[in-house]
Formats: sequence, C-alpha cells, structure tokens
Amino acid sequence: MVELAQEHDDDWWEVEALYDLCFAPGREALSSYRLRDGVPPVPELSLVARDADGVLAGAIRFWPVLVGGRRALLLGPVAVHPTRQGEGLGGLLIRDSLERAQALGWDRVMLVGDAPYYARFGFVRLDGVEMPPPTNPDRVLGRALCDGAWKGVTGRVTRPT
Ligand SMILES: CC(C)(COP(=O)(O)OP(=O)(O)OC[C@H]1O[C@@H](n2cnc3c(N)ncnc32)[C@H](O)[C@@H]1OP(=O)(O)O)[C@@H](O)C(=O)NCCC(=O)NCCS
Repeated sequence: MVELAQEHDDDWWEVEALYDLCFAPGREALSSYRLRDGVPPVPELSLVARDADGVLAGAIRFWPVLVGGRRALLLGPVAVHPTRQGEGLGGLLIRDSLERAQALGWDRVMLVGDAPYYARFGFVRLDGVEMPPPTNPDRVLGRALCDGAWKGVTGRVTRPT
C-alpha cells in the first residue's frame, strides 16, 4: 500500500535522488528549471508517495509561474521509482495533486512533457504559450482547473514577481 503525503524539508534530497534516477543526466539544464531557480515549490501540492515501509515510491512537485502575467501552476517534475512504474502511482500523484490545486483555488496548470501520457489527465497542447527556449512547443501542455481558464491566456512563461 502506498500513501501520499505533503513533501517536507527532510524529504528534499531523497526526492532529488529519485529524480536523478528517473530522468536523464543534466535534467537541471532543461529550460523549465530556469523558471524554478530561486523559487520555492508550492508546498501543499508537492507530494511524496511512500510504501508501508516508508520507502519512497514516487514524487511530484509544482511551481508557481506567470503566463503573460497571469498566475499558473507548472507541474513537475513527477517521477515514479523504476521498480514501481506501471502500478498507477504516476496517475495517483497527478490526479490527487490536481484535485488539491483545484480546492486551493488555482485556475490553470501547465507542464512540459509527453502529450501521449498527459492527455489521459486532460492536458492539451497550449498554443501561444512560450516557454524559455529551447522548448519543443508540442510538449507545452495545459489543463484548465475551472471552465475556460486558459481562454486568452498566452505569452511568455516567467517566474512569479
Ligand atoms: C511517467 C511516470 C511518472 C509514469 O508513472 P507510472 O506510475 O509508471 O504511471 P501509471 O502507472 O500511472 O501509468 C502507466 C501508463 O502510462 C504510460 N506511460 C508512461 N510514460 C509514458 C510516456 N512518456 N508516454 C506515453 N505513455 C507513458 C505507460 O505505458 C502505461 O500505459 P498503460 O496504462 O496503457 O499501460 C514514470 O514512468 C516515470 O517516472 N518516468 C520517468 C520520469 C518521467 O519521464 N517523468 C515525466 C516527465 S514528462
């Protein structure tokens, strides 16, 4: 059995090690990390999934960003330990955190990722939303957390001021 909990300071390096294991080397060179530099993640939405022995099975973090000056969430990184992949934990982390985001009053969420995976959670390509280069625009995806939340929201993605 796996339980989700809010990530705490003590979890930080264990989660970093999980991300290092799950992503290609140099992940921090990705343009999305420039939006995270010097900005703390959203604590209520950054979750760890631990099994009954307390072993870390997966984690998700979110950052606040601005899109053309409008508030949005940047989902990611999300990762599940290779020995636990395919059990639905990725889906659990994503669905649970998006429900929490909605309950906290966030309107919209975006990410840079594989459309074939994220489509199942309602993410679609965001036209006119410009991530720092280099980013493949086909990987810039978004989901509204309330009706019409992405309507007319375009422009550069920047760190919150
Ligand atoms: C992506 C990830 C978080 C999914 O976690 P998970 O717990 O294995 O996911 P789930 O069990 O909820 O879902 C598994 C399904 O997603 C599919 N899937 C996983 N990664 C995918 C991808 N990149 N593209 C398309 N489908 C993908 C699997 O094929 C499987 O499909 P099925 O339901 O038809 O069998 C996990 O594979 C992972 O940590 N990958 C490495 C890090 C990463 O790429 N993170 C995402 C950044 S964009």
